[in-house]
Amino acid sequence: MKSVSIIAAAAVMLASSVSAASNDPRECEVCMKVMQDVRDAIPKADQTNKPAIEAALGAQCAKDTLSARERKICYYIDPIKRDVAHPFSLGMPVDRLCKRINKSNSEICGVKFPVKTENLEKKDLTKLRVKQLKSILVDRGVECKGCVEKEEFIAMVQNTEHLAGSDEF
Ligand SMILES: *[C@@H]1O[C@H](CO)[C@@H](O)[C@H](O)[C@H]1NC(C)=O
Repeated sequence: MKSVSIIAAAAVMLASSVSAASNDPRECEVCMKVMQDVRDAIPKADQTNKPAIEAALGAQCAKDTLSARERKICYYIDPIKRDVAHPFSLGMPVDRLCKRINKSNSEICGVKFPVKTENLEKKDLTKLRVKQLKSILVDRGVECKGCVEKEEFIAMVQNTEHLAGSDEF
């Protein structure tokens, strides 16, 4: 019973998390996580200190525990640390901060965490729209060539689960 409701909740979350449209709540999500981790790592007294912020960004990005997507964000922000440190030092919330940084490198907000579907049953995937299934595949870097029927997209999502947590970059 419990697992059924968890799966249902996951399906709802998945459906909302991959909702297409311009207002994708997942926009900038990886950038936001990296920035929040950096903010959490800086002592209160140094939150407005740009050199300290740049140093903390460097330290965060040097961690070997980062996920592939976080490393990707680090790769993008490394050359623009100064552009990051300035709005950061103003205490800007991470969502606005990332939108600002996205102006320096427009790839930044497009980096999202991969959507895992391994715990979803086929009937849950069936509830998603084709657009959402396509979005999952785009996240995984695959294309369902020649696919027309929803069934085909669902099969492709199921067959590419191994790419969801991919370390590829
Ligand atoms: C990031 O920049 C690109 C290119 O300018 C833009 O298309 C995209 O909407 C921006 N994303 C956000 C969340 O601001």
